[in-house]
Amino acid sequence: MLGSFASLVGALGLFMAASVNAQEGPCGGTVYSTGNFIVTNYGADYTVLTMFGVNQNQDSEDYLLYCGDTSPQEQDLLDMGVSKNVKMFKVPVANVLVSGTFTSSYVELAGGQKNIGVLEDPKNIVSPCLQERFKNGSIVPLDSTIFNQYDSVNVGFRENKNPAQIKDVWVPMSVEVAPLLRVQYINAVALFFNSGSQALITYNTIIGTYNQLKLDMSRIPQANKMRIGWVKYDFVHQSWTLRNTEFTRGIIIDAGGIPFPLVGDGVGSNPDISPSDFKILMTNADIIIDQTEFPADGKGNYTSLFGRWRALAGFTGVDFVPRVLDLKKIYSLDNTVNLVGISDYQYRMPSRPDLLLRDVIAVQYPEYNKGYRTRFLNGNFQYGGAPDFTLGPDNCTITPMQYNSGDITTSTPDPSFTGLPTPPPPVVGGGIYGIGGPTQGDGTSGSGKSKTTTVVIAVVCVAAVLGAAFAFAFYKWSRRAKEDRFIELEEEMNNEIPLS
Ligand SMILES: *[C@@H]1O[C@H](CO)[C@@H](O)[C@H](O)[C@H]1NC(C)=O
Ligand SMILES: *[C@@H]1O[C@H](CO)[C@@H](O)[C@H](O)[C@H]1NC(C)=O
Ligand SMILES: *[C@@H]1O[C@H](CO)[C@@H](O)[C@H](O)[C@H]1NC(C)=O
Repeated sequence: MLGSFASLVGALGLFMAASVNAQEGPCGGTVYSTGNFIVTNYGADYTVLTMFGVNQNQDSEDYLLYCGDTSPQEQDLLDMGVSKNVKMFKVPVANVLVSGTFTSSYVELAGGQKNIGVLEDPKNIVSPCLQERFKNGSIVPLDSTIFNQYDSVNVGFRENKNPAQIKDVWVPMSVEVAPLLRVQYINAVALFFNSGSQALITYNTIIGTYNQLKLDMSRIPQANKMRIGWVKYDFVHQSWTLRNTEFTRGIIIDAGGIPFPLVGDGVGSNPDISPSDFKILMTNADIIIDQTEFPADGKGNYTSLFGRWRALAGFTGVDFVPRVLDLKKIYSLDNTVNLVGISDYQYRMPSRPDLLLRDVIAVQYPEYNKGYRTRFLNGNFQYGGAPDFTLGPDNCTITPMQYNSGDITTSTPDPSFTGLPTPPPPVVGGGIYGIGGPTQGDGTSGSGKSKTTTVVIAVVCVAAVLGAAFAFAFYKWSRRAKEDRFIELEEEMNNEIPLS
């Protein structure tokens, strides 16, 4: 089975590389409208793309793409029913600005990797070839103080809508949506590289793989499904929160798992969990996915990092060790990092839910796809080991690593798979993190006394870390603020600093 997973990879990568810009058919390539955007072709010369906000957000912006040498005349625009102020782009575009670094993943999957010239936060990039291009000067950092930087690019893909900037294309984002929804943007972005038809193959492969895996997992009997808690320690509020978004719930359910809260819902997408509820959650979880962003993360030393995690979780002693801790089923989300320890999961999550789904399946059922190495979920976290994949600029050409357009894989159906033969141990404890009850969980106990211990431990940890490495901490805090912004629904728009 392992072989079949890998088989399409090489071929697809080559195909994509060879056929970009060798487009026939409509301008931009053949791409179908989705809930997130509408594509209207006018012969082979013009294509109008209307981009909407993700997930039924009806805010929109039009882009006119033209493939001939001259931009359309006023009459052409009238015929197409678009405003004469529509943003126009000659495709394929040559030089691209990417802001909202997650967007670079769409651009790479759309075949535009070599066209990225300006990138926000190059230090956060994990993609080896983008790192290489940054190292040799082919990519420069986005810098609003460089007056002519914007002049040099043909298009800027940004997470915020920016009507005043005529080269800006809005690639909206939100982490609160169903897992497959944001993959669609690969197709919209590909139109600008005239690679829409190839991107459609990539898109269909990602979606097809995801749905195939989901189908295999759907045969697991309900009683035998594993309970998966996706949690995050919030250093600002000094509490544990549950990641309970459509995205996290969706992935867990599609991977054949059961997300927390176990009963009811309506707790919101990032509810605080009281220490007592957290204990119940930990007691009942078969798998924990931890998204804690450690300040000054000290990831040079994973032994002490996991010690800190245990302290925050309130399980330092030996008197009570939850099964999930005992069996070492706690995973952080940084199994693929760059040389300064930045994980790529934020950036690839919107475009590659198939990889995360594979990961969530693999940590539950190592036998299902034997030999698979998780991309995002880091099992070494709990053993004090380093991430499996550390990627630097050399991993583009010198010691190549399959990444993005290179690691699109297919999945072979396995109809005989039905999970583990026996159910996990019964659920214990009350509230929505346990067996459920008449009240909306034990949540009300959250403001109570037992919180104090965790808070004290957390404060001591944070203080120690800040004291030890203030400069690095400061750098990490500012990075964290950015990531938090990623986490919290990005609906603030039109607030970018104009570039020219
Ligand atoms: C930088 O590296 C890329 C390969 O990633 C190569 O195509 C490009 O020509 C290099 N540019 C310079 C200026 O060396
Ligand atoms: C890492 O942390 C552990 C536990 O705190 C400690 O024993 C060890 O000496 C540390 N290693 C390094 C290289 O700092
Ligand atoms: C990345 O490149 C380094 C050498 O620079 C190599 O040691 C490492 O194995 C490569 N990583 C992967 C995942 O291929």
